[in-house]
Amino acid sequence: MNFYLQRDIEEIIDRAYAELSSLSSKRVLLAGGKGFLGRYFTEIFRQFNKSSSCKIHLISVDNFASSTPEPKINNESKEAIEFSSGDICDQSFISSLGNFDTIINAAGIASPYHYRAKPLQTLDVSVKGTRNLLELSKANNAKFTFFSSSEIYGDPSPDKIPMQESYRGNVSTLGPRACYDESKRLGETLCYIYKQYFGTHTNIIRPFNVYGPGMQQQDYRVMPNFASNIKSNKNLKLYGSATQTRTYCYVSDAMIGFLKVISKGLAGEPYNIGNPSPEISVAKLADLFIKLSYNKISKDIIDYPDSYPSDEPMRRCPEIKKAIVQLNFNPIVDLEDGVSRFLNWTKINYTRNA
Ligand SMILES: NC(=O)c1ccc[n+]([C@@H]2O[C@H](COP(=O)([O-])OP(=O)(O)OC[C@H]3O[C@@H](n4cnc5c(N)ncnc54)[C@H](O)[C@@H]3O)[C@@H](O)[C@H]2O)c1
Repeated sequence: MNFYLQRDIEEIIDRAYAELSSLSSKRVLLAGGKGFLGRYFTEIFRQFNKSSSCKIHLISVDNFASSTPEPKINNESKEAIEFSSGDICDQSFISSLGNFDTIINAAGIASPYHYRAKPLQTLDVSVKGTRNLLELSKANNAKFTFFSSSEIYGDPSPDKIPMQESYRGNVSTLGPRACYDESKRLGETLCYIYKQYFGTHTNIIRPFNVYGPGMQQQDYRVMPNFASNIKSNKNLKLYGSATQTRTYCYVSDAMIGFLKVISKGLAGEPYNIGNPSPEISVAKLADLFIKLSYNKISKDIIDYPDSYPSDEPMRRCPEIKKAIVQLNFNPIVDLEDGVSRFLNWTKINYTRNA
């Protein structure tokens, strides 16, 4: 299975060459290296290293809490890419990894289906895991980036949309989503404390619904769910009212934004990384998938299954001026183009379900 489209990786390297070059000769620790975004970082670094005399030395770690192990790639150490299996909540594992210049925490249990099933692990990875990595950053004087989430804003009132980084959010401490939302908020607080008290260079990324090739069929976020049903020629299942709206950011745009934050984000600052438009309902998104699939399927609106946490935020739309002005971030892939690249990839890489 190819976890990416080659043209996307080439586009990312081309558009983020300066940011990647700033990591040359550095030792980078990447937590969550076998997740959707972690695999992209790995592949981008691998392919950048092939063309660069000063390589990025990547050590990635993952405990496969929500991803599947894959066969080892032989050339990894030659390419300055290493992988170590382990849990970032385990302090002795983290201390055994060595010294680093840059630490990226992209570990997490991001899919609502998975965090519904594993609430305590979800909480631990953002809190214990982030703290362990911040301790390592402090000891190494390394730059630290935390993958938080747009979910820290909770369910905003309409006058707060699009959401700016300064918005404090409307989040419930109780309920099926709290383990994810509140632990991401606490992860951000940890970044604040290490920056204020120990002078650690921390950055916070708040991604807004990133999608694209590489999302696992068993991820259970909305786009893989739709693509999986299309592959099996089944109607698309929409939960609740299907009027909840989101904006979606294609993975190549998002990865460029992430690399910009990692290489030149201002210390202590959070950045929204996403695409501010179009903001569309889940029902309209389903229509787009059906149009691009050419299958004779339709939509079924159903109640939330027990396996999926209800209490979803009704709207999600980022204000990205800060990333535009400070980092020159500029998402360019429109939704129809991105969904069509994703669907073409799933046609080959997803399997038909009975
Ligand atoms: N993709 C998005 O749209 C999005 C949106 C908001 C936030 N985020 C955040 O960005 C990060 C990366 O997202 P993703 O889409 O790649 O998620 P993902 O679920 O595909 O990958 C996360 C990886 O972290 C690993 N992991 C979980 N707990 C771990 C632990 N204790 N120790 C080591 N590894 C562990 C999982 O096994 C998985 O491989 C996550 O923290 C997620 O919460 C992503």
